[in-house]
Amino acid sequence: MSTLAATRFGRAAARLDEIKPSPIRMIFDKAAALDAAGEKVYHFEIGRPDFDTPNVAKGAVAASLGRGEVHYGPNAGTADLRAAIADYLMSRRGTSYDPASEVLVTIGANEAVFLALMAFCGPGDEVIVPVPAWAHYQSCIRLTGATPVPVPLKADADFSLDLDAIEAAITDRTRMVIICTPNNPTGGVASQAEIERLSQILEPTDSLLMSDEIYADLVYEDAAHISPAAVNNLRERTLVIGGFAKAFAMDGWRLGWLAGPHELITPALRVRQYTTVCPPTFLQPGAAAALRHARAEAEAMRREFEDRRRAGLEILTGVPGVSVSKPDGAFYFYLTYSPLIAEPAEQLAMRLLEEQKVAVVPGTAFDPDGGKHSIRISYACHIDDLTEGLRRIVQTLTTTPPEGALQ
Ligand SMILES: Cc1ncc(COP(=O)(O)O)c(C=O)c1O
Repeated sequence: MSTLAATRFGRAAARLDEIKPSPIRMIFDKAAALDAAGEKVYHFEIGRPDFDTPNVAKGAVAASLGRGEVHYGPNAGTADLRAAIADYLMSRRGTSYDPASEVLVTIGANEAVFLALMAFCGPGDEVIVPVPAWAHYQSCIRLTGATPVPVPLKADADFSLDLDAIEAAITDRTRMVIICTPNNPTGGVASQAEIERLSQILEPTDSLLMSDEIYADLVYEDAAHISPAAVNNLRERTLVIGGFAKAFAMDGWRLGWLAGPHELITPALRVRQYTTVCPPTFLQPGAAAALRHARAEAEAMRREFEDRRRAGLEILTGVPGVSVSKPDGAFYFYLTYSPLIAEPAEQLAMRLLEEQKVAVVPGTAFDPDGGKHSIRISYACHIDDLTEGLRRIVQTLTTTPPEGALQ
């Protein structure tokens, strides 16, 4: 029975029964307790940049407050920020959206995911999610009453999109397919050929596509982000998720966007009207300023991530029994290890924290079945901490685990 089943005032709503507490909570709580006790903790569990927000964005918010822009704004977000988002999508991804009717400013990318799912999915519907995946999708799908259909990706194929498996998972109940490129947790970036194949698979169906592109600006070396909305005629059925949290280090601002054809944005806007109503008015000029004037800062942060990625891969590559999927984008290493060298991921994560003071996320947070021998390492931290923490992880993985630990 769910721990939420009983309160002094009766049970919590049945829709919460299937929504489990996050398996990473224990790691977060323990890492926070170690911090509070004054221990030096290597924080690789957090999926947020360690940089400050660009000054131009902060200045625009101060000016907005100075002008007294403290009241409700349009449900879809300010016209100026929607225009900035549409310009940005055109210049960076070659996709065209009418700011008046095809862009919704959201409370983080999180709300964009939620609005899209609430607008289109409900009991009886299935939503295909290739896993490992950001855990929020499956919980949000369940909140709508729909059923998540996880499609396992293969470690030995570098967790690339398994399009045969996605095709095989489609039924006449499939309401939506969710892809995330660049990917959290694997760092994988979908290729043009993969997206073209996806468009052929979806063509005869009524299924929508959710394309989570929150990490789109964080790609490395010769990798390129391709928005499905720019491929063949996928735009018609695609809801694009984007945001400011990752590329602009603005996670605490809680702003993002949902972009799509007018007919798909309108139902999402209806959900917004009865939930959050509008994004904070005075933050929106700051977000527009970031998109228009902070490209150089964003590029400097991307280069810094690229340096860390290189340094991290040098340490992680070639460790016996360990493989790291090719992280072409985002800021994570998704490391998979042989069950012969270490215990299941949740125990390993706890041991890393207790013995080495390194906090990582067990792969089960992204794929409860397939992630039992994987961990996610975020490299959104100082490069010195990264190299020292990774050395500690390697040391743990190459030292005999405690007796009875292997299962
Ligand atoms: C894949 C993915 N999508 C969406 C989000 C949510 O971003 P935001 O902070 O803008 O709500 C995250 C945050 O970690 C993420 O990893």
